[in-house]
Amino acid sequence: MISENVSLKPFNTFGIDVKATRFATFASPEELGQILKDNKNKPLLILGGGSNLLLTKDFDGLVLKNEIKGIEVISETADEVLIRSGAGEVWHEFVLYCISKNYCGIENLSLIPGSVGASPMQNIGAYGVEIKDVFDKLEAVEIATGEIHTFDNETCEFGYRESIFKHAVKNQYVITNVYFKLSKTQNTNTSYGAINQQLEVMGIGNPTIKDVSDAVIAIRSSKLPNPKEIGNAGSFFKNPVIEHAHYQEILKNYPNAPSYPVGEQHVKVPAGWLIETAGWKGKVVGETGVHKNQALVLVNYGDATGKEIYQLSTDIIEDINQKFKILLTREVNIL
Ligand code: FAD
Ligand code: EPU
Repeated sequence: MISENVSLKPFNTFGIDVKATRFATFASPEELGQILKDNKNKPLLILGGGSNLLLTKDFDGLVLKNEIKGIEVISETADEVLIRSGAGEVWHEFVLYCISKNYCGIENLSLIPGSVGASPMQNIGAYGVEIKDVFDKLEAVEIATGEIHTFDNETCEFGYRESIFKHAVKNQYVITNVYFKLSKTQNTNTSYGAINQQLEVMGIGNPTIKDVSDAVIAIRSSKLPNPKEIGNAGSFFKNPVIEHAHYQEILKNYPNAPSYPVGEQHVKVPAGWLIETAGWKGKVVGETGVHKNQALVLVNYGDATGKEIYQLSTDIIEDINQKFKILLTREVNIL
């Protein structure tokens, strides 16, 4: 059923109150196919959990919320399982399901908001793991033709917060099912960030995947705002990659500037550090702000508009460019 003139406020984690001319949900590829036929050549927005979106204006078109459910083991060997999830499953619930079955590989991605279907869009990542590490393939309906196409790991062209769905085939497909290859051997990855430290605090020496998930949840909860309490979409910007010579220049003024090596010639500098060092952390501008515990997260304290949050992001980009000669790019999808 298609509803008209619907507020999108409950459907985006920034809590931005814009309207969609028309709104509907779909629970199967067949139902989606029928809706697409009736909506041919008209503006369309596919929505998962709305946790990586900044809505800056009303959407004059059809918003379609993905509710394709179902988790199924397709095949397994002694060591590995191929598992399929409907794109409308909630990502974190899928992670918890896999942990309960002892399927390993996505426990470091615990508590990332949103849907399974959006996970390949920006190759979600956290704590040393990206979905490309366990991704097998996905099925997607081509909007123009209604045909179902399969994309394997290589055709998705995954990169850091990137995939083909943000570039060459942007807005051309609706992802309906995602397949993951997970290990049945407990092989935890705790080397990244504060995971080991957190496990120590929890008194755990030989962690299971459930322990790693609990540690990641504890770290995330301590610094990232819960969108149910403060509107946000996680990291607003990507961490920039700069040349080594440029980094050496920054070190002259900031000897403790953090970085991670990227190949021989480049380093990644945490955007959170750049934004904090430039004095933005905890800043409040009207109803918008930069979160007090994580400078990479822009927030809506109440009734901010998408345009106001976008303006704050522009001001930050300009200031960082002026101070560090680094042009930050937005990670969040702007509409
Ligand atoms: P939406 O916001 O609904 O959509 C995002 C984009 O994908 C839109 O362009 C939409 O049109 C498109 N899209 C959605 N579903 C489909 C589909 N089925 N087919 C085709 N296109 C589709 N991300 C990380 O990578 N790592 C993190 O650690 C992380 N932490 C976060 C923490 C917080 C507190 C928040 C709020 C966000 C965080 N994010 C993180 C960002 C976000 O959770 C992910 O990008 C997530 O995958 C978005 O899923 P979604 O279903 O909410 O997508
Ligand atoms: N930092 C600061 N000040 C801050 C925040 C960060 O100085 O306010 C510096 C510190 O040096 C810190 C470093 O940045 O050690 C890294 O911070 P953190 O571990 O919080 O990670 P991040 O680089 O800010 C990235 C992802 C997150 C992901 C975490 C954990 C991007 C754009 N963001 O954040 O993803 O959860 O690592 O792996 O790559 C998201 O994409 O929405 C997201 C939340």
